[in-house]
Amino acid sequence: MNKAFGSEDARVADYVARVYQPEDDVLADVRTRSAAAGLPDIQVAPLDGRHLEVLARAAGARRAVEVGTLGGYSGLALLRGMAPDGTLDTVELEPRHAEVARETFRRAGVADRARVHVGPALQILPTLAPRGPFDLVFIDADKEGYPRYLDWAAANLRSGGIVLLDNAFLFGHLPEAPSGDRAASIKAMQTVHETLARGGLFRATVLPTGEGLAMGVRV
Ligand SMILES: C[S@@+](CC[C@H](N)C(=O)[O-])C[C@H]1O[C@@H](n2cnc3c(N)ncnc32)[C@H](O)[C@@H]1O
Repeated sequence: MNKAFGSEDARVADYVARVYQPEDDVLADVRTRSAAAGLPDIQVAPLDGRHLEVLARAAGARRAVEVGTLGGYSGLALLRGMAPDGTLDTVELEPRHAEVARETFRRAGVADRARVHVGPALQILPTLAPRGPFDLVFIDADKEGYPRYLDWAAANLRSGGIVLLDNAFLFGHLPEAPSGDRAASIKAMQTVHETLARGGLFRATVLPTGEGLAMGVRV
């Protein structure tokens, strides 16, 4: 089983967390302030934050877009991996979340590199296009919107740029036939995987993180 899709052994996760220590005091403070401000506890896990930082670094990202800011946890992780003059445009529907994120970027000393845009992503993304093409797009918002966010990424990434999509396993519902309350999100996530795998625009895979991180390189 050592070639299985990820590891379900909690001791392995503990070991990795102990050795890599993916969450420092600054990131822990984001988590604490977000909770104190009443934000939902749905930011990426510490090791997922590290994945984002390292992937941004590997991509040599200087211009990135994030869909779904929350309190700025993943945005800060991305900025840490980006070039020192790299900029992040991050889009958030809820003004209260955006306020926490702005404080996150201020405290981390990266406020001049982070632009927080408040509003529905489908309205904001077209306004960002002139700043592109981008090196990296991270999608982590409403699942029904993923197919259109992915289309935007395909149109606005440079060749060789990467798109990352969190919750790619849809909390375990990914392989189900779309029905009931989750029909729209299941259909959306399956569409995204079909596009990534067979749409001809990306060479893609799914990293087996706890929630699944889909990753595509724009051809
Ligand atoms: C899972 S959280 C993002 C977590 C964040 N990426 C992190 O790990 O720190 C999803 C966020 O997307 C926002 N959101 C939901 N629908 C949206 C939309 N249509 N446009 C922009 N943001 C949206 C939510 O308000 C929420 O803050």
